[in-house]
Amino acid sequence: MDDPIVIENLTKDFNGFKAVDSLNLKVERKSFVGFLGPNGAGKTTTIKILTHLLSASGGQAYLNGVDVTKDPKNALAGVGAVVETPEFYPYLTPIETLQYLGSLRGMSNEYIQRRTKEVLETVKMTEWSKTRIGKFSKGMKQRLAIAQAMIHEPHVLILDEPTSGLDPRGMVEVRNILQDLRKGDYTIFMSSHLLTEVQEICESVALIDRGKLLAHGSVATLVEGTGSKDIDVRILQPVDSYVIDRISNFEGVERIVPGDPRHFTITFKGREEDQARLLSEMQTLGLKIVSFKEIGVALESLYMSLIKDSR
Ligand SMILES: Nc1ncnc2c1ncn2[C@@H]1O[C@H](COP(=O)(O)OP(=O)(O)O)[C@@H](O)[C@H]1O
Ligand SMILES: [Mg+2]
Repeated sequence: MDDPIVIENLTKDFNGFKAVDSLNLKVERKSFVGFLGPNGAGKTTTIKILTHLLSASGGQAYLNGVDVTKDPKNALAGVGAVVETPEFYPYLTPIETLQYLGSLRGMSNEYIQRRTKEVLETVKMTEWSKTRIGKFSKGMKQRLAIAQAMIHEPHVLILDEPTSGLDPRGMVEVRNILQDLRKGDYTIFMSSHLLTEVQEICESVALIDRGKLLAHGSVATLVEGTGSKDIDVRILQPVDSYVIDRISNFEGVERIVPGDPRHFTITFKGREEDQARLLSEMQTLGLKIVSFKEIGVALESLYMSLIKDSR
């Protein structure tokens, strides 16, 4: 079976400026891929070509094996997309909006009713289903946008920065909905300029800058590729420079950055056994360790160095 999303040598030229530059990417069925890159990297342009809102200057894009340029209707039949937050009619309710959008798609009334109920549950908006959209927050409108994109039961979702412009609570709500979808038969391709967001909710990353793919793989593999990780340590009592010095000489410790007196970060490279030994060695120094936690900064340094190298 074809991969749900296949991009081959995709290029978009805006008057000689390549916003997308010979991009190749495959998204496997049931994966949740974060399309990560800084502002201006070419994410929206790529997604607009995928969803037939823009035409490519070169290369191909296939959705479920169908060429988007040659047969957009069939290519997009099994795809739900949120590219720009749609403007909803403020005086309509979510039920009325979804009914209207379903009928535009030629869905039967019965089918629309069943799907309206289902998608409103998916985006946790059942209790707002009869409230006028004019009263909604940005986050609620974005959730409705996701519901609308799913009305025709697609198994592939393409989302351009779905949490962008939302307040922190709205961001969390949208992320939770996307994470819930992972339990079902969905392939999700979501762009973001936020590394932490991609690390938190996606299982793999396609990193793009200046229209080019810089790295693609599971979050775990990319982090492994950097060889080192950051471990955040909190202790009960303040530490002095002697203790910091001792820790910095333990095997595998590349660097130690003190935060406040009861808190520091260790950049560590080594196997899990070595990491376990580091923890027990710190305890033999008499430290009462409150928390010893890997944090995602290693991917951040990879991200920064890849982006720097591409410039
Ligand atoms: N219609 C357009 N005309 C000219 N340049 C454009 C157009 N749309 C986007 N660009 C440029 O293409 C680059 C990529 O933009 P975009 O795909 O929106 O990036 P991202 O979504 O990753 O922030 C940017 O430098 C942007 O200025
Ligand atoms: Mg964009």
